[in-house]
Amino acid sequence: MAKNWWKEGVVYQIYPRSFQDSTGNGLGDIQGIIDRLDYIQSLGVDMIWLCPVYESPNDDNGYDISDYRKISADFGGNPAFDRLLEAMHARGLKLLMDLVANHSSDEHHWFQQAQKSRENPYHDYYIWKSGTPDSPPNNWQSVFSGSAWKWNAATEEYFLHLYTQKQPDLNWENPKVRQEIYDIVDFWLAKGVDGFRMDVISLISKRLEFADTPQEMPFIDVMEQIYANGPRIHEFLNEMNREVLSQYDIVTVGEGPGVNLEHGPRYVSAAAKELDMVFHFDHLTIDFGPDGKYDPVPLDFVRFKEIFSQWDAALAADGWNSIFLGNHDFSRIVSRFGNDGQYHQESAKLLVLLLMTLRGTPYVYQGDEIGMTNITHDSIEAYDDVETRNAWKAAEAAGKDMDQFLKAVHWQSRDNARTPMQWNGENNAGFTSGTPWIPLNPNYTTLNVSAQEEDPQSILHFYRKTIAFRKANPTLVYGDYQDLAPDDLHLFAYRRWDANGSFWVIHNFSDQQQPLPEHFKPQTNQVFGNYPTDHALKLRPWESRVYKD
Ligand code: GLC
Repeated sequence: MAKNWWKEGVVYQIYPRSFQDSTGNGLGDIQGIIDRLDYIQSLGVDMIWLCPVYESPNDDNGYDISDYRKISADFGGNPAFDRLLEAMHARGLKLLMDLVANHSSDEHHWFQQAQKSRENPYHDYYIWKSGTPDSPPNNWQSVFSGSAWKWNAATEEYFLHLYTQKQPDLNWENPKVRQEIYDIVDFWLAKGVDGFRMDVISLISKRLEFADTPQEMPFIDVMEQIYANGPRIHEFLNEMNREVLSQYDIVTVGEGPGVNLEHGPRYVSAAAKELDMVFHFDHLTIDFGPDGKYDPVPLDFVRFKEIFSQWDAALAADGWNSIFLGNHDFSRIVSRFGNDGQYHQESAKLLVLLLMTLRGTPYVYQGDEIGMTNITHDSIEAYDDVETRNAWKAAEAAGKDMDQFLKAVHWQSRDNARTPMQWNGENNAGFTSGTPWIPLNPNYTTLNVSAQEEDPQSILHFYRKTIAFRKANPTLVYGDYQDLAPDDLHLFAYRRWDANGSFWVIHNFSDQQQPLPEHFKPQTNQVFGNYPTDHALKLRPWESRVYKD
């Protein structure tokens, strides 16, 4: 296994509009991040993944880019970005940008031109199908509800948008489009950025027959079999690697909706020269029911563990995993996988210990280091997220039980992860002196960074210790992995080992005490844990222990 800086590092993900406002306009900005670099560095992380900060009409909070070379004035413009990059490099921190190349904004000048006429030189930058206004070319649904096609009267055609109507899909079949993207990538890499997280990159190669999706196919399968992993995906990624990525010592992580065990290894195979890592979603779609995300089913814990084991095995010989439990698109990890009530502290600590002891590069999402929790609004009006709002409208139109649906929104809305960072217990949690763009979680008065800085037992201090523990032990980075109790309904227990020895890690994912499994051998040499050490043969609720021999 080749060693790399990006395998050994830990990533901190920032959702800039919710991180720190420095101007009082209610929106986080780049100067706010610069002001918090001491804090970020104090966590012991090595890289920051910055969600999009480019110019954008913000139909999807920056994932709709109207100028790929400009930083939005909302965030401080290009000069602020240059200052951030310099300040980070001065501290030895690396910066990963978000590259949104499956689609642009409809306000990008390419699309503004493209929509004018079929003869326009930019027309072929997007995906068009002729037709009549009342019958879209096929039954494809947007990820954000409704048809994936929008009528364009000027050319009497539809264009494809797998996300919102303001996010038209780019036509990667067109070599000029690919060259444009490579030039953009080169522009930022030449400036010194250290890599990219590539948004929904698994979707860039379309199945050109544009056949209808089979009726009744669950959306997860549509994603996997129809939208993602298209016929030229590996060719395009390999080309991007050859043309631009390989010229720099950088890291790439591709967001991979629909990337499964069959396709995943190829994306990250060192030999195939495409990407370094992908984010697969097998463990985060685990509670999606037949009707998708807003039709949740109980989490199958045995399956959850199996997903980690299968992916570890699939990438053990060639490739590398990314280890994450949430981001700006999912619920808060302690609310989803832990217990955000009675065992808030214990379970938040358990989750970071899980992240830091699996094989792969770990990603920490802002606010998880203090155990930020989901938000529960009484009415849909308080939600901002376009995905949530569209899903709501679609559910209403379909005559669903909307009280039930609101519960699903509480559980799954992306706004759970987008409430502002809770810095202190004062006005607006220290996030802004103005009116925040999205409501704060009211628990900021007690759950915040300042309070946790003061408390040596806090989740925040435990994150620091756990990140340091991982970084001090390369066995936890590169060592082999084996699940020791795959069928256990409450315990996640595994061994990580290499020539230097073994770590035996055990997590109790339950509110009850659980006995140590018989075959879990070492019982005395505990080196780390989220409770004061005792050698009892029972694990306390949400207890995590690491033994070494
Ligand atoms: C990715 C982003 C998400 C965005 C979508 C469309 O999934 O993480 O926030 O809405 O792509 O760009």
